[in-house]
Amino acid sequence: MKTLLLGQTLRFTNDPFHHAWDAVTRTDSAGGVLIEDGRIAAIGHGADLKAAHPQAQVHDHGEALVTAGFVDAHMHYPQTAMIASWGKQLIDWLNTYTFPEEAKFADPAYAAEVAGRTLDLALAHGTTTLTSFCTIHPASVDAVFEAAARRGMAMVAGKTCMDRNAPDDLRDTAQGAYDDSKALLDKWHGQGRATYAITPRFSPTSTPDQLHALGALWAERPDALMQTHLSEQHPEIAWVRDLFPDARDYLDTYEAHGLLGERGVYGHAIHLDPREVDRLAEVGAAVVHCPTSNTFIGSGLFDMAAMKARGIRTGLATDTGGGSSFSMLRTMAAAYEIGQLRGTALHPAQLMWLATEGSARALHMGGQIGHLGVGAMADITVLDLASTPAIGQRSAMADTLWDALFPTIMMGDDRAVKTVYVAGQQAVSKINTQVSPACPSP
Ligand code: GUN
Ligand code: ZN
Repeated sequence: MKTLLLGQTLRFTNDPFHHAWDAVTRTDSAGGVLIEDGRIAAIGHGADLKAAHPQAQVHDHGEALVTAGFVDAHMHYPQTAMIASWGKQLIDWLNTYTFPEEAKFADPAYAAEVAGRTLDLALAHGTTTLTSFCTIHPASVDAVFEAAARRGMAMVAGKTCMDRNAPDDLRDTAQGAYDDSKALLDKWHGQGRATYAITPRFSPTSTPDQLHALGALWAERPDALMQTHLSEQHPEIAWVRDLFPDARDYLDTYEAHGLLGERGVYGHAIHLDPREVDRLAEVGAAVVHCPTSNTFIGSGLFDMAAMKARGIRTGLATDTGGGSSFSMLRTMAAAYEIGQLRGTALHPAQLMWLATEGSARALHMGGQIGHLGVGAMADITVLDLASTPAIGQRSAMADTLWDALFPTIMMGDDRAVKTVYVAGQQAVSKINTQVSPACPSP
């Protein structure tokens, strides 16, 4: 069966950080996306596609924006219930709020409940793919992959490994982390839309033996991703220096144990030494910007311009529950604000690209997800550009698509998500009573 989505379409032909944004964006105020067998079969002018495919079931989204679904490149589904916990910076925040919550995931039923809740929240916010840390409990990994499979969603996840500096009930061992991760990788990696990421939490909670064991696993299974945290906060970096006196820097604690590579995905990466930037660039690793987390936990200002200048693949992520929102719109807004504080105003095209293709490329899934293009999976988000009176009155006086979209980026939330398609199936359908203003062409 064919489905034809009609609306304003926005897609990218290349990276708007490396090319003029107007040269690599394609918009159509009356566009169409044809879906067949869960994938995008054609993109074009809506009327043309309708005439060429008269048998297709038409979903007319009017003036709403049809875009690739958002890809959240770093988050912690076990922290969903404790998002917005007050008053602590990273290490105290972990010890006070995060670890007690993660200990609850010893109960597989709790893990299943929170996994389902998280994925439903993600879809309601227009996010079609999540990349999540789990807990040390293998059942927490099963829970999130099973929940994603039930919803048809692409999911990246891995067992979070910790064998020191964590409570007794949240510690594994070097061998246990290797064995559990290997078993989960064998079970899930490449099953349907599941991708396994080997997941040492961060250097402070892994002994060198554990990092070494996980590096050995990655060497055996280089097709897996590897995700961790890097240089998020100054006290954390000082702690890493104490724990690893022989390391040249934070990144070296991973590199020395086989945990630096092209399929490595390093969250935060804020306070980097020049050698670390050089090595990330040389090996083709990816970093992930988590802007609401970086302001909420008080970590610092990510240097997007420096990363892009070095050609380092960069994704965008909520980092919930360190991040303070499930919304990639709110996350784009925070990235814009951090860019401003760094002296670089990110264009709406760059923000949308980061939240879709940028994250997909960081996960080595470019062209498959986060991409409104023929052959990509039909993971699609439809945005109402006048979802609240405040946004509507601003977008009503816009005279370009970017001007109409930017208020939704800055002020939008789940109310802006009209609907979501996952592998071509409509996943969220809200009755939207808002009246969109006439939307200008770009
Ligand atoms: N560093 C190590 N663990 C975490 C975590 O759960 N959240 C964040 N933001 N940083 C971390
Ligand atoms: Zn994180």
